[in-house]
Amino acid sequence: YGTQSIDEQGQLTIGGTSAMTLANTYGTPLFVYDTALIKERARAFIQTFDRAGVQAQVAYASKAFSSIAMYQLAAKEGLSLDVVSGGELYTAIHAGFPVERIHFHGNNKSDEELNFALDSGIGCIVVDNFYEIDQLKRLTTYKKMNINILLRVTPGIEAHTHDYITTGQADSKFGFDLNNGQADQAFQLVKDDIYIQLLGMHCHIGSQIFDSVAFSLAAKKLIAKMIAWRTQFDFVCPVLNLGGGFGIRYTEEDKPLQPEVYVEDMIKSIQSEIGLLEYPMPEIWIEPGRSLVGDAGTTLYTIGSQKEVPGVRNYLAVDGGMSDNIRPALYQAKYDAAVANKMTKESTTRYTVAGKCCESGDKLIENITLPKVEAGDTLAVFCTGAYGYSMASNYNRLPRPAVVFVEQGQHRIVIKRESYEDLIRLDCSLEEELGENS
Ligand code: LLP
Repeated sequence: YGTQSIDEQGQLTIGGTSAMTLANTYGTPLFVYDTALIKERARAFIQTFDRAGVQAQVAYASKAFSSIAMYQLAAKEGLSLDVVSGGELYTAIHAGFPVERIHFHGNNKSDEELNFALDSGIGCIVVDNFYEIDQLKRLTTYKKMNINILLRVTPGIEAHTHDYITTGQADSKFGFDLNNGQADQAFQLVKDDIYIQLLGMHCHIGSQIFDSVAFSLAAKKLIAKMIAWRTQFDFVCPVLNLGGGFGIRYTEEDKPLQPEVYVEDMIKSIQSEIGLLEYPMPEIWIEPGRSLVGDAGTTLYTIGSQKEVPGVRNYLAVDGGMSDNIRPALYQAKYDAAVANKMTKESTTRYTVAGKCCESGDKLIENITLPKVEAGDTLAVFCTGAYGYSMASNYNRLPRPAVVFVEQGQHRIVIKRESYEDLIRLDCSLEEELGENS
């Protein structure tokens, strides 16, 4: 993956630094991000739009991995940003992310979050439902403040990995249904508002999608609606946002397209549709999360105990687990791994990689063939950069791991490891005198 290789000692290196040096310096479990790979991906997306001469914003869907350093990296690469909560927005602003390039998503934004977004001068709010239209009208009227919005719609296309299904009525908690009049009704409610500036439509059809057909289908449906609004109301949408969801390769079974190929195909289908119907080319926005950071991340664990279930399996346990990577337990997600200090040793033994949480389902990888391991070896699990740290928890009161960025032999900490003290920081003791209002 990326700039990983094997050094003379037969050890894994990531971004020019030995994985063992990283594990020894920062401890384990440790998330290691190869930032060269994140930059390469970001540039590939942006340059694909540039080459096609298409105005675009590539917004990093920061739910995949959010931290101050990551927001600063995204800002420097010229990415825009998709945030989904006051907390992500707060972190991004704290990181100095240009607020006019931030887009705010979510199906249940609070007044407090919307006020925060409005007061910060956010670039765009992706409006999800009728309740939110009321909220925004009320808040912008009170503040006498303008706001750019997109309407999130569900086109009735849902894509999962390499399958996509088209349904008449999309059963989703997100967005206005494009097929049953909801989207039109939302459009009517905002198109003439004095404070709300409608830029266009947004859809997100799924995640870890392997082919580009579903994106083209979705684009077609949204464009058809844009044409209808122009015909009926002389309204032209300057922006079309097709969300994220571009797939990546976790294991050999996964066969995604190159990230930029999704964009090339998307541009082609939009251009042909638009050209046919003589509509001005809108600015295209996309929101990749996983495909920007997923394969740039590796988790290093220290191997501890083992257990043989004779004739069934050998368990090897690591010092993390579902608390730092919930995806195998939650989605049966598959990962690949290697023993970082035994990269040139022959793989001879089948293992199931278990975590250390008190739960039988806490398995990171079922059935992987590795060199024979012993306690103290370092296991590198690949492709953990998206929805790993961001979905981490303190289950069993495990402190969350540290996160480091590596590039060209340099490494630096970007999120410190949690301490036991951090774990009890918000706890209140029954021995404490409570203040009157606490
Ligand atoms: N835009 C919207 C509106 C989204 O809801 C999402 C992801 C994205 C963009 C980014 O999608 P990506 O490019 O990362 O696939 N926790 C799950 C993934 C949940 C995705 C939720 N929405 C996982 O670990 O696979």
